[in-house]
Amino acid sequence: MIDSLNALRDAALAAVDGVSDLAGLSEVQVKFLGRKGELTQIMRGMGSVAPEDRPKVGQVVNEVRSAIETRIGEREEEMSNEAKRLKFAAEAVDVTRAGRAPIKGTLHPLTQVVREISDIFANLGFEIAEGREVEQEYYNFEALNIPEEHPARDMQDTFYVAPGTVLRTHTSPVQVRVMEAIQPPVRIIAPGKVYRCDSDVTHSPMFHQVEGLLIDEGITFADLKGVLEAFIHEYYGPDIGVRFRPSFFPFTEPSAEVDISCVFCKGSGCRICSRTGWLEILGSGSVDPAVFGFVGYDPEKVQGFAFGIGVERIAMLKYGIDDIRLFFDNDVRFLSHFR
Ligand code: PHE
Repeated sequence: MIDSLNALRDAALAAVDGVSDLAGLSEVQVKFLGRKGELTQIMRGMGSVAPEDRPKVGQVVNEVRSAIETRIGEREEEMSNEAKRLKFAAEAVDVTRAGRAPIKGTLHPLTQVVREISDIFANLGFEIAEGREVEQEYYNFEALNIPEEHPARDMQDTFYVAPGTVLRTHTSPVQVRVMEAIQPPVRIIAPGKVYRCDSDVTHSPMFHQVEGLLIDEGITFADLKGVLEAFIHEYYGPDIGVRFRPSFFPFTEPSAEVDISCVFCKGSGCRICSRTGWLEILGSGSVDPAVFGFVGYDPEKVQGFAFGIGVERIAMLKYGIDDIRLFFDNDVRFLSHFR
């Protein structure tokens, strides 16, 4: 019987060593140590063992069982270690590898230009005001002294979204909204999107302006010139030439368009400035007393000036961009130049 027990032990240990997974291991366990397993079969023969030999045989049974159980336990641990090793290898992080820099976004060039312009005017004491892009005709035209049927409306090709409602064609309606809301002194700029039914290499149906409005007692055209010259010299440098050219806007009187000396040819005349040596960057003027009539300001008491800067125009001149559509194509190869 002891021989059969030893043979069983050897067979079981060999079987345990031979299996390669947990399922195989548990089969081996059942086969040899299970309730109906081979060890149980052998122990059935205990009855025929002489009583004085039984303790000895019993001891061998226990040794055989525990040898097999120990080996099964060892294999189990080996298998689970191997499984863990494979899992970690699959998820391994090589901490010595050089890092990959994340791609950093940038502000859109027009956002950068709007912020630069706003910063300069903030330093001159202007606050930021906001209007709305879907605007009533009244604010976009009437209250700016542009009556219905007046030919001045033809200056701006307009998107009508509903009767009496337009996509604002300029930021000037913010002037009216601010003057309705507060009493002088007023010193605001209003950056934002505007819309015109117009599209080519220098015109986009959506573009940006920065409106400016200053109202106080005793304001003259000299203040307008001083503020705009200060802005232009701050933005383009002290050597840039500035020219005020008489113009017309229904809501300013007198009105002036402001040119800077051509940043490409330095004023000697080139294709970009149409050989004039000058580039237009904004419209401006003293606020027309008729506009004060719409907002209840007393033109005998207060005066002021307004201006509207074309943001795309400023950005195109600054960066030498010849097609306005590049700003709105969202091509990162273009946008990543503006870091
Ligand atoms: N709103 C005018 C335009 O879009 C510009 C302007 C603003 C002119 C303020 C004078 C005063 O053309």
